[in-house]
Amino acid sequence: MGPSKLHASAKASSFTESVIRDMTRLANLHGAINLGQGFPDFAAPQALKDAAAQAIAGDHNQYPITWGVPAFREAIASKYLRDYGMTVDPETEICVTCGSTEAMIATMLGVLDPCDEVVIFEPFYENYGPDSILSGAVPKLVTLRPPDWTFDEAELRAAFTDQTRAIVINSPNNPTGKVFTREELSLIAELCGQHDAIAITDEIYEHITYDGACHVPIATLDGMAERTVTISALSKTYSVTGWRVGWAITSPALMGGIRSVHDFLTVAAAAPLQVAGITALELPAGYYADAAAEYADRRDLMMSILAETGFEAAPPAGAYYVMADCSHLGLGDDVATARHLVEHVGVATVPGSSFFSRPEDGAHLVRFAFCKTLATLGAAGERLRALHGSSSH
Ligand SMILES: Cc1ncc(COP(=O)(O)O)c(C=O)c1O
Repeated sequence: MGPSKLHASAKASSFTESVIRDMTRLANLHGAINLGQGFPDFAAPQALKDAAAQAIAGDHNQYPITWGVPAFREAIASKYLRDYGMTVDPETEICVTCGSTEAMIATMLGVLDPCDEVVIFEPFYENYGPDSILSGAVPKLVTLRPPDWTFDEAELRAAFTDQTRAIVINSPNNPTGKVFTREELSLIAELCGQHDAIAITDEIYEHITYDGACHVPIATLDGMAERTVTISALSKTYSVTGWRVGWAITSPALMGGIRSVHDFLTVAAAAPLQVAGITALELPAGYYADAAAEYADRRDLMMSILAETGFEAAPPAGAYYVMADCSHLGLGDDVATARHLVEHVGVATVPGSSFFSRPEDGAHLVRFAFCKTLATLGAAGERLRALHGSSSH
Protein backbone atom coordinates (compact mmCIF):
# COMPACT_ATOMS: atom_id res chain seq x y z
CA MET A 1 0.00 0.00 0.00
CA GLY A 2 1.17 3.54 -0.77
CA PRO A 3 1.06 6.42 1.68
CA SER A 4 -2.31 7.15 3.29
CA LYS A 5 -4.74 9.25 1.30
CA LEU A 6 -6.30 10.58 4.49
CA HIS A 7 -4.64 13.99 4.39
CA ALA A 8 -5.37 17.59 3.51
CA SER A 9 -5.19 18.69 -0.11
CA ALA A 10 -1.98 20.23 -1.44
CA LYS A 11 -3.71 23.62 -1.60
CA ALA A 12 -5.00 23.46 1.98
CA SER A 13 -1.62 22.24 3.27
CA SER A 14 0.10 25.20 1.71
CA PHE A 15 -1.82 27.70 3.86
CA THR A 16 0.03 28.83 6.93
CA GLU A 17 -2.18 28.65 10.00
CA SER A 18 -3.72 32.00 10.80
CA VAL A 19 -1.33 33.68 13.23
CA ILE A 20 -4.06 36.12 14.17
CA ARG A 21 -6.48 33.45 15.33
CA ASP A 22 -3.62 31.67 17.10
CA MET A 23 -2.89 34.87 19.02
CA THR A 24 -6.55 35.01 20.09
CA ARG A 25 -6.18 31.44 21.41
CA LEU A 26 -3.06 32.44 23.38
CA ALA A 27 -4.81 35.60 24.63
CA ASN A 28 -7.65 33.46 26.01
CA LEU A 29 -5.20 30.98 27.53
CA HIS A 30 -3.25 33.69 29.37
CA GLY A 31 -6.16 36.00 30.18
CA ALA A 32 -4.57 38.67 28.02
CA ILE A 33 -6.29 41.77 26.64
CA ASN A 34 -6.77 41.00 22.96
CA LEU A 35 -5.35 43.78 20.80
CA GLY A 36 -4.55 41.13 18.18
CA GLN A 37 -7.71 40.34 16.26
CA GLY A 38 -9.71 43.16 14.68
CA PHE A 39 -13.13 42.77 16.23
CA PRO A 40 -14.78 45.42 18.42
CA ASP A 41 -15.39 44.68 22.10
CA PHE A 42 -18.23 47.19 22.26
CA ALA A 43 -21.92 46.77 21.43
CA ALA A 44 -23.40 46.98 17.94
CA PRO A 45 -25.92 49.83 17.44
CA GLN A 46 -29.24 49.05 19.17
CA ALA A 47 -31.21 49.91 16.01
CA LEU A 48 -29.42 47.12 14.14
CA LYS A 49 -29.97 44.55 16.87
CA ASP A 50 -33.67 45.46 16.93
CA ALA A 51 -33.88 45.28 13.12
CA ALA A 52 -32.26 41.81 13.11
CA ALA A 53 -34.64 40.52 15.79
CA GLN A 54 -37.62 41.94 13.89
CA ALA A 55 -36.44 40.40 10.61
CA ILE A 56 -36.39 36.95 12.20
CA ALA A 57 -39.73 37.50 13.93
CA GLY A 58 -41.10 38.78 10.61
CA ASP A 59 -40.15 35.48 8.97
CA HIS A 60 -37.31 36.48 6.70
CA ASN A 61 -35.94 33.03 7.39
CA GLN A 62 -35.73 31.20 4.06
CA TYR A 63 -33.19 31.28 1.24
CA PRO A 64 -33.10 34.75 -0.27
CA ILE A 65 -32.23 35.33 -3.94
CA THR A 66 -28.67 34.03 -4.15
CA TRP A 67 -27.10 37.41 -5.01
CA GLY A 68 -29.01 39.28 -2.32
CA VAL A 69 -32.34 40.46 -0.91
CA PRO A 70 -33.64 43.00 -3.50
CA ALA A 71 -34.35 45.78 -0.97
CA PHE A 72 -30.88 45.34 0.55
CA ARG A 73 -29.26 45.59 -2.88
CA GLU A 74 -31.28 48.75 -3.48
CA ALA A 75 -30.05 50.15 -0.15
CA ILE A 76 -26.45 49.33 -1.17
CA ALA A 77 -26.93 51.11 -4.53
CA SER A 78 -28.39 54.16 -2.72
CA LYS A 79 -25.43 54.23 -0.33
CA TYR A 80 -22.89 54.32 -3.18
CA LEU A 81 -24.82 57.09 -4.95
CA ARG A 82 -25.14 59.12 -1.74
CA ASP A 83 -21.57 58.64 -0.48
CA TYR A 84 -19.55 58.55 -3.70
CA GLY A 85 -21.81 59.58 -6.60
CA MET A 86 -21.49 56.05 -8.04
CA THR A 87 -24.37 54.75 -10.14
CA VAL A 88 -24.79 51.05 -9.44
CA ASP A 89 -27.55 48.88 -10.90
CA PRO A 90 -28.84 46.70 -8.04
CA GLU A 91 -30.25 44.19 -10.56
CA THR A 92 -27.03 43.42 -12.40
CA GLU A 93 -24.06 44.90 -10.54
CA ILE A 94 -24.27 43.76 -6.89
CA CYS A 95 -23.66 40.41 -5.24
CA VAL A 96 -24.33 40.16 -1.50
CA THR A 97 -21.89 37.75 0.14
CA CYS A 98 -20.96 36.23 3.52
CA GLY A 99 -18.76 39.13 4.58
CA SER A 100 -16.10 40.76 2.46
CA THR A 101 -14.06 37.59 2.99
CA GLU A 102 -16.41 35.67 0.72
CA ALA A 103 -16.69 38.62 -1.67
CA MET A 104 -12.90 38.49 -2.15
CA ILE A 105 -12.58 34.73 -2.69
CA ALA A 106 -15.70 34.62 -4.91
CA THR A 107 -14.18 37.45 -6.97
CA MET A 108 -10.79 35.77 -7.31
CA LEU A 109 -12.37 32.42 -8.23
CA GLY A 110 -14.97 34.10 -10.43
CA VAL A 111 -12.71 36.33 -12.53
CA LEU A 112 -9.16 34.92 -12.41
CA ASP A 113 -7.69 31.96 -14.24
CA PRO A 114 -4.79 29.80 -13.08
CA CYS A 115 -1.42 31.46 -13.78
CA ASP A 116 -2.92 34.96 -14.08
CA GLU A 117 -0.75 37.42 -12.20
CA VAL A 118 -2.25 39.49 -9.40
CA VAL A 119 -0.45 42.53 -8.03
CA ILE A 120 -0.73 42.69 -4.21
CA PHE A 121 0.74 45.31 -1.90
CA GLU A 122 2.67 44.09 1.13
CA PRO A 123 2.35 44.11 4.07
CA PHE A 124 -1.02 42.55 3.21
CA TYR A 125 -4.17 41.37 4.92
CA GLU A 126 -3.44 37.70 5.54
CA ASN A 127 -6.33 36.30 3.46
CA TYR A 128 -5.02 37.55 0.11
CA GLY A 129 -2.27 34.87 -0.02
CA PRO A 130 -4.61 31.86 0.42
CA ASP A 131 -7.19 33.54 -1.86
CA SER A 132 -4.57 33.67 -4.62
CA ILE A 133 -3.55 30.04 -4.02
CA LEU A 134 -7.16 28.86 -4.18
CA SER A 135 -7.70 30.65 -7.48
CA GLY A 136 -4.36 29.46 -8.89
CA ALA A 137 -3.25 33.04 -9.50
CA VAL A 138 0.35 34.16 -9.06
CA PRO A 139 0.88 37.03 -6.58
CA LYS A 140 3.30 39.79 -7.61
CA LEU A 141 4.19 41.78 -4.52
CA VAL A 142 4.81 45.51 -4.29
CA THR A 143 6.18 46.90 -1.03
CA LEU A 144 4.56 49.66 1.05
CA ARG A 145 7.26 51.45 3.03
CA PRO A 146 6.95 53.19 6.42
CA PRO A 147 6.46 55.69 7.88
CA ASP A 148 3.64 56.67 5.51
CA TRP A 149 3.55 53.31 3.71
CA THR A 150 4.00 54.68 0.20
CA PHE A 151 5.04 52.50 -2.74
CA ASP A 152 7.71 53.12 -5.31
CA GLU A 153 6.19 54.09 -8.68
CA ALA A 154 8.86 52.22 -10.66
CA GLU A 155 8.33 49.07 -8.59
CA LEU A 156 4.57 49.19 -9.21
CA ARG A 157 5.05 49.79 -12.94
CA ALA A 158 7.48 46.86 -13.12
CA ALA A 159 5.01 44.56 -11.32
CA PHE A 160 2.51 44.94 -14.18
CA THR A 161 3.23 42.56 -17.08
CA ASP A 162 1.33 41.04 -20.01
CA GLN A 163 0.13 38.34 -17.61
CA THR A 164 -1.33 40.79 -15.09
CA ARG A 165 -5.04 40.18 -14.70
CA ALA A 166 -5.75 42.14 -11.52
CA ILE A 167 -4.47 44.24 -8.67
CA VAL A 168 -5.76 43.98 -5.09
CA ILE A 169 -6.01 47.26 -3.21
CA ASN A 170 -7.04 47.56 0.42
CA SER A 171 -7.73 51.13 1.44
CA PRO A 172 -7.98 52.16 4.25
CA ASN A 173 -5.38 49.49 4.81
CA ASN A 174 -4.95 46.63 7.25
CA PRO A 175 -2.32 46.35 8.74
CA THR A 176 -0.67 49.71 7.99
CA GLY A 177 -3.51 52.24 8.37
CA LYS A 178 -2.56 53.72 5.00
CA VAL A 179 -5.27 55.54 3.03
CA PHE A 180 -4.35 55.53 -0.67
CA THR A 181 -4.38 59.05 -2.11
CA ARG A 182 -6.22 60.05 -5.28
CA GLU A 183 -2.80 60.45 -6.99
CA GLU A 184 -1.74 56.92 -6.05
CA LEU A 185 -5.07 55.53 -7.18
CA SER A 186 -4.76 57.46 -10.47
CA LEU A 187 -1.44 55.77 -11.18
CA ILE A 188 -2.99 52.37 -10.42
CA ALA A 189 -5.94 53.24 -12.69
CA GLU A 190 -3.55 54.25 -15.48
CA LEU A 191 -1.72 50.90 -15.20
CA CYS A 192 -5.00 48.96 -15.09
CA GLY A 193 -6.08 50.73 -18.28
CA GLN A 194 -2.76 50.09 -20.02
CA HIS A 195 -2.74 46.39 -19.13
CA ASP A 196 -6.50 45.78 -19.36
CA ALA A 197 -6.37 44.71 -15.70
CA ILE A 198 -9.06 44.55 -13.00
CA ALA A 199 -8.86 46.50 -9.73
CA ILE A 200 -10.19 44.41 -6.84
CA THR A 201 -10.60 46.82 -3.98
CA ASP A 202 -11.28 45.90 -0.36
CA GLU A 203 -12.87 49.00 1.16
CA ILE A 204 -14.13 47.47 4.38
CA TYR A 205 -12.69 50.35 6.48
CA GLU A 206 -14.17 53.02 4.17
CA HIS A 207 -15.79 54.95 7.03
CA ILE A 208 -12.86 54.82 9.45
CA THR A 209 -10.42 57.61 8.54
CA TYR A 210 -8.60 60.23 10.63
CA ASP A 211 -7.34 63.81 10.42
CA GLY A 212 -9.42 64.59 7.32
CA ALA A 213 -8.02 61.69 5.25
CA CYS A 214 -10.50 61.04 2.46
CA HIS A 215 -11.45 57.58 1.20
CA VAL A 216 -11.64 57.50 -2.60
CA PRO A 217 -13.18 54.40 -4.22
CA ILE A 218 -11.01 53.65 -7.28
CA ALA A 219 -14.23 52.79 -9.16
CA THR A 220 -14.99 56.55 -9.24
CA LEU A 221 -11.87 57.33 -11.30
CA ASP A 222 -12.24 57.82 -15.04
CA GLY A 223 -12.70 54.56 -16.92
CA MET A 224 -12.48 52.43 -13.77
CA ALA A 225 -16.13 51.58 -13.00
CA GLU A 226 -16.26 48.76 -15.55
CA ARG A 227 -12.91 47.23 -14.48
CA THR A 228 -13.23 47.54 -10.69
CA VAL A 229 -14.70 45.08 -8.22
CA THR A 230 -15.57 47.15 -5.13
CA ILE A 231 -15.81 45.05 -1.97
CA SER A 232 -17.14 46.14 1.40
CA ALA A 233 -19.31 44.85 4.25
CA LEU A 234 -21.42 45.71 7.26
CA SER A 235 -18.75 44.11 9.48
CA LYS A 236 -16.52 47.02 10.52
CA THR A 237 -18.68 50.09 9.81
CA TYR A 238 -21.48 48.85 12.07
CA SER A 239 -19.46 46.67 14.51
CA VAL A 240 -21.18 43.46 13.40
CA THR A 241 -18.24 41.27 12.34
CA GLY A 242 -20.20 38.14 13.34
CA TRP A 243 -23.11 38.85 10.98
CA ARG A 244 -21.08 37.88 7.92
CA VAL A 245 -22.77 40.24 5.46
CA GLY A 246 -20.75 41.93 2.71
CA TRP A 247 -20.95 42.63 -1.02
CA ALA A 248 -19.10 42.91 -4.30
CA ILE A 249 -20.03 45.58 -6.86
CA THR A 250 -18.89 45.44 -10.47
CA SER A 251 -19.93 45.66 -14.11
CA PRO A 252 -22.15 42.90 -15.54
CA ALA A 253 -19.15 41.58 -17.54
CA LEU A 254 -17.38 40.59 -14.31
CA MET A 255 -20.44 40.05 -12.09
CA GLY A 256 -21.55 36.86 -13.86
CA GLY A 257 -18.49 34.88 -12.72
CA ILE A 258 -18.69 36.23 -9.17
CA ARG A 259 -22.38 35.39 -8.78
CA SER A 260 -21.87 31.83 -10.10
CA VAL A 261 -19.04 31.10 -7.68
CA HIS A 262 -20.94 32.71 -4.79
CA ASP A 263 -24.01 30.57 -5.55
CA PHE A 264 -22.00 27.35 -5.30
CA LEU A 265 -19.86 28.45 -2.34
CA THR A 266 -22.54 29.67 0.05
CA VAL A 267 -25.89 30.10 -1.80
CA ALA A 268 -26.52 33.34 0.06
CA ALA A 269 -25.73 35.47 3.09
CA ALA A 270 -28.10 35.22 6.06
CA ALA A 271 -31.51 36.51 4.91
CA PRO A 272 -32.66 38.25 8.14
CA LEU A 273 -29.31 39.98 8.53
CA GLN A 274 -29.52 41.31 4.98
CA VAL A 275 -32.94 42.73 5.87
CA ALA A 276 -31.45 44.29 9.01
CA GLY A 277 -28.64 45.62 6.83
CA ILE A 278 -31.16 47.96 5.18
CA THR A 279 -31.57 49.70 8.56
CA ALA A 280 -27.77 49.90 8.85
CA LEU A 281 -27.30 51.50 5.44
CA GLU A 282 -30.07 53.99 6.16
CA LEU A 283 -28.59 55.25 9.45
CA PRO A 284 -28.25 59.05 9.42
CA ALA A 285 -24.97 60.82 8.59
CA GLY A 286 -24.47 61.52 12.31
CA TYR A 287 -23.83 57.82 12.91
CA TYR A 288 -20.72 57.86 10.71
CA ALA A 289 -19.45 61.14 12.15
CA ASP A 290 -19.86 59.84 15.71
CA ALA A 291 -18.23 56.50 14.89
CA ALA A 292 -15.26 58.24 13.23
CA ALA A 293 -14.86 60.58 16.22
CA GLU A 294 -14.92 57.64 18.64
CA TYR A 295 -12.31 55.82 16.57
CA ALA A 296 -10.16 58.96 16.56
CA ASP A 297 -10.26 58.96 20.39
CA ARG A 298 -9.26 55.29 20.44
CA ARG A 299 -6.44 55.91 17.99
CA ASP A 300 -5.14 58.88 19.99
CA LEU A 301 -5.17 56.87 23.23
CA MET A 302 -3.43 53.94 21.50
CA MET A 303 -0.74 56.25 20.09
CA SER A 304 -0.08 57.88 23.46
CA ILE A 305 0.20 54.47 25.13
CA LEU A 306 2.67 53.32 22.46
CA ALA A 307 4.72 56.50 22.77
CA GLU A 308 4.87 56.17 26.57
CA THR A 309 5.83 52.51 26.53
CA GLY A 310 8.68 52.63 24.05
CA PHE A 311 7.05 51.44 20.83
CA GLU A 312 7.73 53.54 17.75
CA ALA A 313 4.85 54.12 15.36
CA ALA A 314 3.36 56.73 13.07
CA PRO A 315 -0.36 57.40 13.57
CA PRO A 316 -2.51 55.53 11.03
CA ALA A 317 -4.60 57.59 8.59
CA GLY A 318 -7.41 55.03 8.52
CA ALA A 319 -8.69 51.60 9.67
CA TYR A 320 -8.04 50.56 13.27
CA TYR A 321 -4.57 49.09 13.40
CA VAL A 322 -1.10 50.41 14.04
CA MET A 323 2.17 48.75 13.13
CA ALA A 324 4.69 49.51 15.89
CA ASP A 325 8.45 49.05 15.85
CA CYS A 326 9.41 46.84 18.79
CA SER A 327 13.04 46.14 17.86
CA HIS A 328 14.64 48.27 20.58
CA LEU A 329 12.58 46.79 23.45
CA GLY A 330 15.11 44.01 23.80
CA LEU A 331 12.49 41.25 23.71
CA GLY A 332 13.71 39.61 20.49
CA ASP A 333 12.06 39.55 17.08
CA ASP A 334 8.36 40.15 16.42
CA VAL A 335 7.30 36.60 17.30
CA ALA A 336 9.32 36.55 20.55
CA THR A 337 8.02 40.03 21.44
CA ALA A 338 4.40 39.09 20.74
CA ARG A 339 4.83 35.91 22.80
CA HIS A 340 6.36 37.83 25.69
CA LEU A 341 3.57 40.41 25.53
CA VAL A 342 0.79 37.84 25.57
CA GLU A 343 2.34 35.53 28.18
CA HIS A 344 4.02 37.93 30.62
CA VAL A 345 2.44 41.34 30.05
CA GLY A 346 -1.11 40.21 29.27
CA VAL A 347 -1.58 42.01 25.97
CA ALA A 348 -2.08 40.15 22.68
CA THR A 349 -0.72 41.65 19.45
CA VAL A 350 0.11 40.14 16.05
CA PRO A 351 3.73 39.58 14.97
CA GLY A 352 4.55 41.80 11.99
CA SER A 353 6.07 38.96 9.96
CA SER A 354 2.61 37.47 9.39
CA PHE A 355 1.85 40.32 6.97
CA PHE A 356 4.94 39.85 4.75
CA SER A 357 6.02 37.21 2.23
CA ARG A 358 9.55 37.38 3.67
CA PRO A 359 9.16 37.11 7.46
CA GLU A 360 12.34 39.13 8.02
CA ASP A 361 10.64 42.21 6.55
CA GLY A 362 8.23 42.32 9.49
CA ALA A 363 10.55 40.99 12.20
CA HIS A 364 10.80 44.39 13.91
CA LEU A 365 7.05 45.06 13.98
CA VAL A 366 3.99 44.08 15.99
CA ARG A 367 0.44 45.09 15.06
CA PHE A 368 -1.96 46.52 17.62
CA ALA A 369 -5.74 46.56 16.90
CA PHE A 370 -7.44 49.41 18.73
CA CYS A 371 -11.11 48.68 17.93
CA LYS A 372 -11.71 48.43 21.67
CA THR A 373 -13.36 50.56 24.34
CA LEU A 374 -11.24 53.30 25.92
CA ALA A 375 -11.44 51.26 29.14
CA THR A 376 -9.96 48.20 27.43
CA LEU A 377 -7.23 50.28 25.80
CA GLY A 378 -6.52 51.99 29.13
CA ALA A 379 -6.18 48.62 30.87
CA ALA A 380 -3.81 47.43 28.12
CA GLY A 381 -1.85 50.67 28.65
CA GLU A 382 -1.47 49.90 32.38
CA ARG A 383 -0.05 46.49 31.56
CA LEU A 384 2.30 47.83 28.87
CA ARG A 385 3.58 50.51 31.26
CA ALA A 386 4.69 47.72 33.58
CA LEU A 387 6.71 46.31 30.68
CA HIS A 388 8.33 49.67 30.12
CA GLY A 389 9.14 49.98 33.84
CA SER A 390 10.74 46.56 33.97
CA SER A 391 12.65 46.87 30.67
CA SER A 392 14.16 50.22 31.65
CA HIS A 393 15.66 48.78 34.89
C1 LIG B 1 -8.74 44.20 5.04
C2 LIG B 1 -9.80 43.28 5.53
N1 LIG B 1 -10.63 42.71 4.66
C3 LIG B 1 -11.58 41.86 5.06
C4 LIG B 1 -11.75 41.53 6.39
C5 LIG B 1 -12.82 40.57 6.78
O1 LIG B 1 -14.06 41.16 6.57
P1 LIG B 1 -15.43 40.39 6.80
O2 LIG B 1 -15.59 40.21 8.27
O3 LIG B 1 -16.49 41.29 6.23
O4 LIG B 1 -15.36 39.12 6.07
C6 LIG B 1 -10.91 42.10 7.34
C7 LIG B 1 -11.06 41.75 8.77
O5 LIG B 1 -10.23 42.00 9.58
C8 LIG B 1 -9.91 43.00 6.90
O6 LIG B 1 -9.08 43.57 7.77
